[in-house]
This record gives sequence, C-alpha cells and structure tokens, in this order.
Amino acid sequence: MFVSDLLKGQTIIVTGGGSGLGKSMAQRYAELGANVVLAARTFERLEATAKEIEAKGGQALPVAVDIRDPEACADVVRQAVARFGAVTGLMNNAAGNFLCAAEDLSPNGFGAVVDIVLKGTWFMTQAVGRQMIEQGNGGSIVSILTTYVYTGSSFVVPSAMAKAGLLAMTKSLAVEWGSAYDIRVNGIAPGPFPTEGAWAALVPDPKMMEEEAKKHIPMKRFGEHSELANLAAYLMSPMAGYVNGTCIDIDGGEWLQGAGEFNRFVEMDRANVKQLLGAMRPKKAK
Ligand code: HXC
Repeated sequence: MFVSDLLKGQTIIVTGGGSGLGKSMAQRYAELGANVVLAARTFERLEATAKEIEAKGGQALPVAVDIRDPEACADVVRQAVARFGAVTGLMNNAAGNFLCAAEDLSPNGFGAVVDIVLKGTWFMTQAVGRQMIEQGNGGSIVSILTTYVYTGSSFVVPSAMAKAGLLAMTKSLAVEWGSAYDIRVNGIAPGPFPTEGAWAALVPDPKMMEEEAKKHIPMKRFGEHSELANLAAYLMSPMAGYVNGTCIDIDGGEWLQGAGEFNRFVEMDRANVKQLLGAMRPKKAK
C-alpha cells in the first residue's frame, strides 16, 4: 500500500506499544522506516517487542512509563530525543477500561480509567507537543478514540467520558497547534479489533458474543490489525499533510448500523424484507 520508506527519518512514540494494537502499529511504523519508542507500564513486554522489531532491521527503544505521571511522560520524550535526536510523531494508544454498571462504580474505579485515558493521554500529548514546538518542524499526533465518542455507551461510562474528552482535545489542538506550529492532531475510532487485553476486559463470553457482534457490523467481521496499522501509518505520514482535526472511523460501519432507525431490517433475511416492503406499496389505480 505504501512505499517502503514512507516514514523514514521519523521518530514515533507509541504508548501501550508492547502489546495489542499498539504493538501492531509500532511494528508497521518500523517496517515503513520510522524509529519507534515503545512506552508502556510493563518493561519486559516492551523489551520483547523492541527485540522483535530490531530482529527485522527496525529501530526500537523500550521505555517503561505510567502515563498518569506527567514527569514520567516528559522523561519518555527526553529518552526518545537522546536516542533518536527528535520526536516527530505520537500515537496515543494506551488505555484502560472495564465493564461495570454505572451505579456500582467506586470513585477509584472511575478515577483509574479517567486518569489513564483522559489525563494520561493529555500528559503525553503535552510533553510531545512541547518537544515538537521546540524543534520547530511540526509533527503528527494521533489518538485512538472509539466510536462511542459520538454515541456514548452503556457499562463503560468512564471510558466514554474520557474518550469524548480526547476528541475535544484533538479538535482543540488541531487548531491551536496546527496554526502556530504545523502540528497535525487527529483521532482514529476503531470498532472491534480483537486483542488479548481488550477482549479480557470487555468481552465476558467470547463464544457467545463474537458471532452475535458480527451480525451488527455491515462487513460481518472484526477488523484486522493490519487495516488499523495502515490507517495509523497514513495519518503519521506526509501523505496526510492536509488531514487535521478529524476522527476517522474504522469499524466496518458498525456504529452507523446501530444508529439508523430502519437499520434493523438489514439483520433480517433480505428476501423477507423485500416481501414485507412490497406488501406495503400502494397498488396503482387502473
Ligand atoms: C469494577 C473495577 C474493575 C472491574 C478495576 N476496578 N477493575 N471495578 N469492575 N472490572 C476498580 C478497582 O476495584 C479499583 O477500585 C480501581 O478500579 C482501580 O483498580 P486497580 O486495578 O488498582 O487500577 P489499575 O492497576 O490502575 O488498573 C487500571 C484498570 C485496568 C483500568 C482498572 O483494567 C487496566 O490497567 N487496564 C489496562 C488494559 C486495558 O484495560 N485494556 C483494554 C482497553 S480497551 P477500588 O475502589 O476497589 O479501589 C479499550 C477499548 C475501548 O479501551 C473501545 C472498544 C470498542
């Protein structure tokens, strides 16, 4: 899809880059020539991912960080600059989430999600933004949002609140930093892309729920990591130089199917639907 050196000369920090979607995106960035900085809590996982990337000829620096700590975020940037000389991209991928009835959430439970998703992503974004401003060459910041930033969602209220806040951050900074510093700020709203972490936290009974979930997606399947990674690469690249302040959905049309008033018909047998609709058609007077 891309020329093989699309991201050559770039240094991209990927939070949550040791596993799941973060790992897939980091691997793709490295394949396309970028230096990647893998920043997350579990150092062993980061180290293993960095080794995999380097075994394939890429450049990867693992840095342990809890993004809830603003000083630690600034230190990730310092380490990235010390190793690679500059930071040109940030992929805000780290998140925390769990299913819980809203009335049962403890203050700590609410805080755990909001502190990681909203505040942590902000701390990382500010640290990278400051560096990009100092460098004076612009940059690209992309955050993984979710399609429920538009709709909200039951049983994940703290995540929905925090991710919606990140959409507001995206649009605000796209103008504030875009106009003065040529820093583009965008979001990606993925639908279901299977990962160990998200599935463990969010899918109580995969056997039962997976097939059911696919019925509610026009494309009738979950996303492939490579599909998300390619979109994430495009947004980091100069090819997306005029894309700023937007959020791109990559969900096979899932959230729209759930939203349209008459979309429930698509989940019925199409021949039956046509018959029902045909029966409602007024007969022409002869
Ligand atoms: C109720 C829970 C809970 C649960 C944690 N808590 N899990 N409450 N139900 N399932 C409460 C705890 O009881 C505690 O409150 C508080 O949350 C903090 O818990 P800790 O374990 O101490 O916090 P911490 O180690 O910071 O863990 C944060 C976390 C955890 C969010 C709770 O799950 C995490 O770090 N997850 C990271 C990985 C992850 O979630 N990945 C999936 C993201 S997927 P009390 O009151 O007891 O002290 C995603 C996709 C969205 O976001 C889009 C999908 C389409």
